[in-house]
Amino acid sequence: MILVTGGAGFIGSNFVLNWLAHHDEPVINLDVLTYAGNLENLATLKHDARHAFVHGDICDGNLVLQLLRNHKPRAIIHFAAESHVDRSILGPEAFVQTNIMGTFRLLEAARAYLAESDDAIKNSFRFVHVSTDEVYGTLAPDDPAFTETHRIAPNSPYSASKAAADHLVRSYYHTYKMPVVTSNCSNNYGPYQFPEKLIPLIIHNALAGKKLPIYGDGLQVRDWLYVIDHCTAIEAALERGKLGETYNVGGCNEQPNLVVVRTLCEILDQLRPRASGGSYADQMTFVADRPGHDRRYAIDATKIMRDLGWKPAETFATGIRKTVEWYVNNSAWVSNVTSGAYREWVGKQYGGAAPAAPAGGKV
Ligand code: NAD
Ligand code: DAU
Repeated sequence: MILVTGGAGFIGSNFVLNWLAHHDEPVINLDVLTYAGNLENLATLKHDARHAFVHGDICDGNLVLQLLRNHKPRAIIHFAAESHVDRSILGPEAFVQTNIMGTFRLLEAARAYLAESDDAIKNSFRFVHVSTDEVYGTLAPDDPAFTETHRIAPNSPYSASKAAADHLVRSYYHTYKMPVVTSNCSNNYGPYQFPEKLIPLIIHNALAGKKLPIYGDGLQVRDWLYVIDHCTAIEAALERGKLGETYNVGGCNEQPNLVVVRTLCEILDQLRPRASGGSYADQMTFVADRPGHDRRYAIDATKIMRDLGWKPAETFATGIRKTVEWYVNNSAWVSNVTSGAYREWVGKQYGGAAPAAPAGGKV
């Protein structure tokens, strides 16, 4: 079995669903259920014995060690993080706590577990660390895309905390021979993304008749990847990644934010024409820029394509249409998230009160 951290969030839940759709190998899913964790994403697994949810914090080293000892997973796939740049600007402390201390505690638990394990476990175990292209900082318009050897130059508390975690992971490989593989991925989009991030926020606001906020001049560039393509890259890193290596993952799909927002509006105009006529693009509005806003990210994914045989299955055109259709067809999910009703899900699903603050998990 594998141990997934943060498997109730956007990418983690897509990973767990996709994993169990293609493998019979069970998953232990450790998630503290912050505002970004939503067990409703995993509702289809309610009666699936291959999925065990553990409500707990990665910062709780004893809990993690107990999980490792009891279940002997062959890998940790580490997604759990505070992930939103804007929130890191308003309150960086949670990012330092979870992204740095949480990763440290996981590494320490894995180190203790491997130290007491036999060679078969030691030789097959993997620690897959899921990181971001934001650790590389920003690019000028004509700069080549980020390779794995690009200097680390994070510009937000979020990306700094992820970079610190990447460094810790690297150091555990070199110092303790921890069998780690790290991936640094570009912007993901797809189902179950919390509507604080650009794409789901724009879809939600458009349909709700609200303004579509564009930071600054809207010409910042991101390299968009459909979330399932990120999940298959992580699987490739798990199964075929070379220990101690990092792999950049991206969609070869650079788009300025303005183009992304206009594309979303065009698709929505076709799928759900505005009752009042006109285009959803009429709701676009320029707002104050994000402090320290990185201008451009672009990933050179040559290494993972060449060495691990990975490539994305979706183009931006196919992925973005699928994504808009998903949000349009899953309005109940969106309204549960935006109203906060998803917080009640655990109570409804498992009985008892919904978890509020981070708590120690049951093993
Ligand atoms: P998310 O915010 O949607 O989900 C994070 C999950 O982690 C949530 O379920 C949350 O409850 C859980 N979590 C947070 N703190 C925890 C803790 N202390 N203990 C246990 N669980 C905790 O994030 P996401 O967008 O799914 O990102 C997942 C990972 O992928 C992150 O590490 C992020 O840095 C990385 N990443 C994200 C993107 C992207 O575009 N979203 C791109 C590249 C890399
Ligand atoms: O590059 C990978 C990163 O992508 C991940 O590591 C992060 O976890 C993930 O959140 C994402 O970071 P970004 O800051 O790029 O994503 P976000 O969706 O917040 O913003 C995308 C772009 O859109 C960015 O240039 C800011 C802009 N934006 C965002 C919002 C929420 C707007 O113009 N208006 C908005 O309302």
